[in-house]
Amino acid sequence: MNQDELKQAVAREAIRHVVEDDWIGVGSGSTANFFIDELAKIKGRIRGAVASSVATAERLKSHGIPVEELNNTGELPVYVDGADEVTEHGAMIKGGGGALTREKIVGGASRKFVCIVDASKVVPVLGKFPLPVEVIPMARSFVARELARLGGQPEWRMGFTTDNGNLVLDVHGLAIVDPVGLETTINQIPGVVTVGLFARRGADAILVGTPQGVKSIAARKP
Ligand code: 5RP
Repeated sequence: MNQDELKQAVAREAIRHVVEDDWIGVGSGSTANFFIDELAKIKGRIRGAVASSVATAERLKSHGIPVEELNNTGELPVYVDGADEVTEHGAMIKGGGGALTREKIVGGASRKFVCIVDASKVVPVLGKFPLPVEVIPMARSFVARELARLGGQPEWRMGFTTDNGNLVLDVHGLAIVDPVGLETTINQIPGVVTVGLFARRGADAILVGTPQGVKSIAARKP
């Protein structure tokens, strides 16, 4: 099975977590896109979806799935999204596609976070994948210096603007042994909008696509 087939398999499995006649929060990226394609097959059985990016909203609409604003739905029962890295505790690095802020908002507004990944994304320690940090444009250099003081090597994602009109710094060289602590520390730097560490509110369930089938891991909270 190639990586896309593994992503497709977890996307199919994630449909079991969708609550009928209710809202579903939908993430961004290629794995989330496969999930949207699966969701389209049961669109008559859900109330509608809340999107974590403009691209996701467009894909949902192209399938005829109603898209609603989070402000109008209240708490969501379930949020389904991919990740760039995830530990068995459910801590994640997200934001490879730059949608981290809205992903964190919609995930935070959901009772259950279902993370869907292929096996290459499951790691013992986060940080090999550069950690995305969304920043207010005028704070870019200042935040980069602060991130360097924390031991990382921030790199400006040139030519990229988030759905919120901000910039992204990708931080290389971090071995993230305390994801909750680092998330809190980076959140406190003035000018940071969102850090792509999802640890204080991590995944509750992780579906992992392997050549032997989809493995379901209930996140073991540290
Ligand atoms: C986008 C994300 C994605 O979930 C993450 O980048 C994984 O993407 P993919 O499913 O394409 O590997 O956080 O901001």
